[in-house]
Amino acid sequence: MINMQVGFCGKTLKNPVIAASGTFAFGTQHGWFIDVSRLGGIALKSLTREKRIGNAPPRIAETPSGIVNSVGLQNPGIEAFLESELEKVESLGTALFANVAGSTVDDYVSVIERLNGTAIDFYELNISCPNVKEGGVSFGTDERLASECVRRCKDAAKKPLIVKLTPAAGDVVRIAKAVRDAGADALSLINTVPAMAVDARRKRPILGNVTGGLSGPCIKPIALKMVYDVSRAVDIPVIGMGGIMTGEDAAEFMLCGASAVMTGTANLLDPHAPIRIIDELEAFGEAMRLNDISALTGALEV
Ligand SMILES: Cc1cc2nc3c(=O)[nH]c(=O)nc-3n(C[C@H](O)[C@H](O)[C@H](O)COP(=O)(O)O)c2cc1C
Repeated sequence: MINMQVGFCGKTLKNPVIAASGTFAFGTQHGWFIDVSRLGGIALKSLTREKRIGNAPPRIAETPSGIVNSVGLQNPGIEAFLESELEKVESLGTALFANVAGSTVDDYVSVIERLNGTAIDFYELNISCPNVKEGGVSFGTDERLASECVRRCKDAAKKPLIVKLTPAAGDVVRIAKAVRDAGADALSLINTVPAMAVDARRKRPILGNVTGGLSGPCIKPIALKMVYDVSRAVDIPVIGMGGIMTGEDAAEFMLCGASAVMTGTANLLDPHAPIRIIDELEAFGEAMRLNDISALTGALEV
């Protein structure tokens, strides 16, 4: 029997497969379909200081091998989350990754401070949101803003801090090094790829927000390269994601250097997907005669 447990930032995950933020809500309704406690972890929907109603519909457009979404960080806000959701989330029986978003650095810090006393295991900083105070520049594409945000959050955080990188950064390795230097304990990548979808007959964009983010199998080759480049450039753990649909896809990310993986769009297609992916990854590891699934991490022979 292969050992599916993986060490991550001083903690142990049951296995390396985590549900990605925004594709698994707060995980509290998935018990109807799957045994949520079998997952390696759950990244909760992004939480912000204030409630956000999100963007105008339509919010999802299908493409031949993925989707473009513009949900717009809809969430009840940190206070309502603590009041109505936290207790249910704490009883899910798996590692909890609280994904934190904001418009200003103060927003991020205040959400983290409110979560510090809870059973949340890790913080995942979503630094791909517009920074209103700084004139609409994204935190994740600006080295200076990204570093400042991570430094302040690291000072406030009483749990390991994972920074989620955006492929829109251009030179993602440069941002990865900057946030590592600013105190990030780990990195997760990639967030969605900026994109849009058009209805030619109506001469209109499909999404209410006009533009959005592309996810699913079509972004996997882009994500694999970014995980490969980043994990070779920094000495902190990396969580890989982008188009993972099967256990073998997950293995590809681990071979490229990921210690764990997240499944996003796959969860929207089929709520059973993350369990199937765990089972397929386990079968793959056994077929490869591994004692330990973590032996895949960084084992790509180039
Ligand atoms: C509908 C939808 C909503 C998402 N919402 C969030 C979010 O709130 N916070 C976040 O950090 N990422 C969010 N993401 C990005 C995913 O967590 C993931 O990074 C991305 O979709 C790539 O993985 P995938 O190709 O497996 O979906 C969202 C993705 C989708 C498809």
